[in-house]
Amino acid sequence: MASTDSRLHQPPSQKDAADQNFDYMFKLLIIGNSSVGKTSFLFRYADDSFTPAFVSTVGIDFKVKTVFRNNKRIKLQIWDTAGQERYRTITTAYYRGAMGFLLMYDVSNQDSFGAVQDWATQIKTYSWDNTQVILVGNKCDLEDERVIATEDGQRLAEELGFRFFEASAKDNINVKHVFECLVDVICDKMNETMEEESNLTANHTNPQGFKDSSESNGACAC
Ligand code: GTP
Ligand code: MG
Repeated sequence: MASTDSRLHQPPSQKDAADQNFDYMFKLLIIGNSSVGKTSFLFRYADDSFTPAFVSTVGIDFKVKTVFRNNKRIKLQIWDTAGQERYRTITTAYYRGAMGFLLMYDVSNQDSFGAVQDWATQIKTYSWDNTQVILVGNKCDLEDERVIATEDGQRLAEELGFRFFEASAKDNINVKHVFECLVDVICDKMNETMEEESNLTANHTNPQGFKDSSESNGACAC
């Protein structure tokens, strides 16, 4: 069963912290220009809802969702950042410790695509080296208004070393798939890092930034 929760400007509080019934916790961020659909994407994923009204995010918000991947219970703490420039100092403060990013642009908005490189630089500057990134071209339902070809998104993702999907929060295209892919690539990276660490030291220690609530030494089976 999935669980969701949301509060503005606050780190996960007592209620979330008290929910220790998970194997791993992943901190994820959604970033990209204002109005590309970050909040809509998160609401579609967490609540299966969509609203055509645009209420620009103030600062940062989050939701919690627990998923099962290969017999592991993974708690996702998903931070939805404001795209507006004036909140940049606040939002980049949350990049630290993030294990994964959804970097989003709008396929019907040239500026949002042009800004992807800058967002990628922000990730490099403020986040952990091993963080995983998926480039998402949202609003693919707007075929008539499209200005960014799928191939251009794909090419840019390859240049940046990111995975790539087009999606639609409105029509619920690829939303769940994008999150599942991000979880899987984080699990892969985690297993890789744990193997490297266990080769270096005889001790099986968890890589920094990943919590295993069972305190076992088992790697994620994703
Ligand atoms: P900020 O909070 O300002 O950074 O914006 P945001 O990226 O969170 O954008 P938001 O989710 O608020 O969506 C902006 C507008 O785009 C809203 O009117 C949404 O209804 C609309 N929208 C979001 N996703 C889609 C989509 O997949 N297709 C279409 N057609 N519209 C969408
Ligand atoms: Mg928003």
